[in-house]
Amino acid sequence: MRLSVLFVCLGNICRSPLAEAAFRAEAERLGLDVEIDSAGTGDWHIGHPPDRRAAAVALRNGLDISGLRARQVSAEDFRRFDHIVALDVQNLADLAAMRPADGKAELSLLLDHVPGREGEAVADPYYGEDAHFDIAWTEVTAGAQGLARRLAER
Ligand code: 4NP
Repeated sequence: MRLSVLFVCLGNICRSPLAEAAFRAEAERLGLDVEIDSAGTGDWHIGHPPDRRAAAVALRNGLDISGLRARQVSAEDFRRFDHIVALDVQNLADLAAMRPADGKAELSLLLDHVPGREGEAVADPYYGEDAHFDIAWTEVTAGAQGLARRLAER
């Protein structure tokens, strides 16, 4: 059965597009049949491409995310996706507050899928430097690999 996973951060231009790309690569590697998307809780960047620093770190790691466009998460996403994966604790709280009564999605934090890092956030690199994007990349990759492995075991 086809699974579906949505990654959610604040702006959908830095962390969640990276998580989407890293998870897509890992899912392909494991042969998982999964629909993958990302969104933001905020509305400032709707329709925008990823932050150029996020696109650059993805490219340094072999993935082109320049074609992605930001969108805002909606209540409908809770009916459409099996898993909604938040990048930080505030995103998780905002998602929990907007969950509709008939929403089926299982909510988690991305780093819940990394043993020993449960409950931790992927720090927002938006106001940081290039090095913060490398850290975000390392973390989303670990989370994406942990989640993909877990879903492959089901
Ligand atoms: P993201 O980063 O949530 O990882 O996409 C941010 C992008 C934009 C803003 C904040 C965080 N902003 O305030 O516009």
